[in-house]
Amino acid sequence: MAIDRLLSPLTIGDLSLKNRVVMAPMTRSRASQDDDCVSDLHETYYGQRANAGLIITEGVHPTFDGKGYNRTPGICNDAHVGAWSRVTQAVHDRGGLIACQLMHCGRVGHPDNKSDKARMLAPSAIAAQAEIFTADGMKAMPTPEPMSLADIDAVVADYGRAAQRCLSAGFDGVELHCASGYLPGQFLASGSNQREDEYGGSLANRLRFIERVIDVLANVIGVARVGLRISPGNRYNDHIDATPEATYAGLLQLAERVGIAWVHAIRMPSTGIDSLALTRANYSGAVIGSDSYTASEAEESIGEGRVDAVSFGRLYIANPDLVERFKQGGPFNKMDKRTIYGGEGSAGYTDYPPLSGDA
Ligand SMILES: Cc1cc2nc3c(=O)[nH]c(=O)nc-3n(C[C@H](O)[C@H](O)[C@H](O)COP(=O)(O)O)c2cc1C
Repeated sequence: MAIDRLLSPLTIGDLSLKNRVVMAPMTRSRASQDDDCVSDLHETYYGQRANAGLIITEGVHPTFDGKGYNRTPGICNDAHVGAWSRVTQAVHDRGGLIACQLMHCGRVGHPDNKSDKARMLAPSAIAAQAEIFTADGMKAMPTPEPMSLADIDAVVADYGRAAQRCLSAGFDGVELHCASGYLPGQFLASGSNQREDEYGGSLANRLRFIERVIDVLANVIGVARVGLRISPGNRYNDHIDATPEATYAGLLQLAERVGIAWVHAIRMPSTGIDSLALTRANYSGAVIGSDSYTASEAEESIGEGRVDAVSFGRLYIANPDLVERFKQGGPFNKMDKRTIYGGEGSAGYTDYPPLSGDA
């Protein structure tokens, strides 16, 4: 099947994508244990995948408090800026674009995965009823500290400083992670937000934190370079809201009002919500669809106007030259599940062979 639409260029805000194949954000837990820096392996990994119209990085914590998982990278200091600069350069040298996904985990995490003085912050003192991987195995997530108004101001400022560092590191944009029950989602959802001040209760109040974060990101990097990741109705990480469809419609209307450059929506039919239709109904900017797409389905979805671009996750883990393989109709390497997360060397990270065979 021809995939001309998928291979055609697309303008998203200030970004000119050479095709509509987006590399989905994927945590791979290979940052330095000591300082959350990315390494030359990340440079190779992302550089190999610069054939995408846009790469969205794995979740990156904007501040050490925002780290939840084992060995995720940060953009919290100058060392992180230096390390990420080499990654963005590798992608740019190969004609690609790369946006940084800002992931503040809030109550999702465990002290074992965080630096010594880092705090676990959340809208309310309610633990996520879920376990998380640590170096000592799976552990229950503890009860977080409820954020004071000063804490909220500080975290909003943290996002702003992180966006500034993203600019310094040469990123082309940022994607705010509002899916999967992380801090922005914790403010949105009635299950994790039981505040009685201006950040809790009504939809307008539950949206206020995200509104402020988007505002600060837009002020630093320009709204035409800011995207939003959503997954309405997804209960991952105990993300439970009484009215997810209405809540996310409100978030999308906010995205529309402020002119967010893209919305990256995970489709999840099991939630009973058609997240792509919900996005189109409330937001007129670029829509990136995600989850289990093939190239032909992506082509069809773009043709039908359901999405403007499609992101590919697991296919990109195993196929660094994914766009070329799409053009040729395959074949596709199979992903090795054992090496998805962690590890020190190239195995399962940068050693998947391209079609030509020379990795
Ligand atoms: C190993 C792995 C790590 C992931 N990490 C993230 C992440 O850091 N941020 C995020 O928004 N989504 C994350 N996701 C979700 C993916 O971005 C994507 O939505 C999902 O893999 C479905 O797309 P696919 O079927 O093309 O793989 C992750 C998925 C995988 C497989």
